[in-house]
Amino acid sequence: MSYDLVIVANRLPVDRVALPDGSKGWRTSPGGLVTAIEPVMRANDGVWIGWPGGTDQDLEPFEHDGLQLAPMTMSAADIEGFYEGFSNGTLWPLYHDLVAKPEFHREWWDAYVAVNRRFAERAASLANEGATVWVHDYQLQLVPQMLRDLRPDLRIGFYLHIPFPPGELFQQLPWRRQILEGLLGADLVGFQMPGGAQNFVRLVRQRVGHKTHRDLVYLPDGRTVRARPFPISIDAAGFEEMARSEAVAERSAEIREALGNPRKIFLGIDRLDYTKGIFARLRAFSELIDDGHFDVEDAVFVQVAVPSREQVEQYRILRDEIDRLVGRINGDLGRIGRPAISYLHSSYPREEMAALYRAADVMVVTPYRDGMNLVAKEYVACRFNDDGALVLSEFAGAADELRQAWLVNPYDINGMKSALLEAYQADSKETTRRMKAMRRTVTQHDVAAWADSFMTELSDVETHGKAVR
Ligand code: G6P
Repeated sequence: MSYDLVIVANRLPVDRVALPDGSKGWRTSPGGLVTAIEPVMRANDGVWIGWPGGTDQDLEPFEHDGLQLAPMTMSAADIEGFYEGFSNGTLWPLYHDLVAKPEFHREWWDAYVAVNRRFAERAASLANEGATVWVHDYQLQLVPQMLRDLRPDLRIGFYLHIPFPPGELFQQLPWRRQILEGLLGADLVGFQMPGGAQNFVRLVRQRVGHKTHRDLVYLPDGRTVRARPFPISIDAAGFEEMARSEAVAERSAEIREALGNPRKIFLGIDRLDYTKGIFARLRAFSELIDDGHFDVEDAVFVQVAVPSREQVEQYRILRDEIDRLVGRINGDLGRIGRPAISYLHSSYPREEMAALYRAADVMVVTPYRDGMNLVAKEYVACRFNDDGALVLSEFAGAADELRQAWLVNPYDINGMKSALLEAYQADSKETTRRMKAMRRTVTQHDVAAWADSFMTELSDVETHGKAVR
């Protein structure tokens, strides 16, 4: 079986998990990448190559919930060297402004090269003559060039879901040139923000020595590569529809009730990741109670922390730190049946998220650095009554579009305290004015518009000197 559209991402949209009865089943994978690509796959007939978690065998493509999936296996050594190691111990912190310290290990790099090669080979084997292959994210930056070497007939796009760092940081990477050359195998390289695309083109000029002009790179073999921003989004209409449903309305009322009907509910929903700024935001909230601005009867902070990358040491340390902080805050400030923070370390289905978004008066999204942050957009999409306040980090890509949020510097605890308090006290006229404008943006620039603009640009690329349509 071969396909005209091949999506290549480290993650499949579902994880293979052991069910309570001992059999194997599928569960939705965490993270923004899956949220964004799933609707694109649904709108096109294609196959999605990715890892279903664990160390099962490669499986033939099969259909799951209306999608064609081609699961890739990983050995325990691949998981350690490629996934936990180079992808999440080296690239993730390096690309997120060194929020944590990246580690550089040659064995991790070797595993990264080997796993990228296997993904490229699988894509080569599943793509029809002249097919389009869309490769995603930092785990697979070598795939474009490896794939082009195997299949020069393909049209290849690459999209980076996380920030592409400035040269001063990227240059620390011992394998910087190989990564740039890997990406240059694509016809079109997409980034979240204009800054990322500019960083990339500048580095290609300085480090690889290719000629560039604006967003174009001219390769010695006559091929050109375009590098452009495509800010990602969500299925806004789908979220709104879910939020409007009777079931979500009931669940949202239940949540408010279970929390003791406080005047205001603050909400954070994040993968449990050190880039997300969870610790500082909970501190800021607790200090507002401590300072007497409001009481645990008035406000509660619901923090959902979705388990993530739990074998990586920095993630384990973070989990312990947050457990301790929540325990201390609730011990100091809570009353019987009234914790200051309602902390949930778990992942939830989309309907439950929509119910939480509907229940929340103040959504708090304060990452130190984030490619986009789709949670912020999901909240906005679910607020169909044009109410609710969004407190948003300046360092999330979403801040470029959601200018009417209460924008904060997540390193500035006092600044965050002021913004949380303003959002808490804002009257409905103010929140409506802001939310209306944000809803316009999110509805107009949804994930379908994002995918369309990437695909249109990719199909305009000239391959072999002539445009192929
Ligand atoms: C971010 C990344 C994705 C990744 C997701 C979940 O959104 O950009 O590539 O899939 O986090 O992380 P995980 O390591 O569980 O795949």
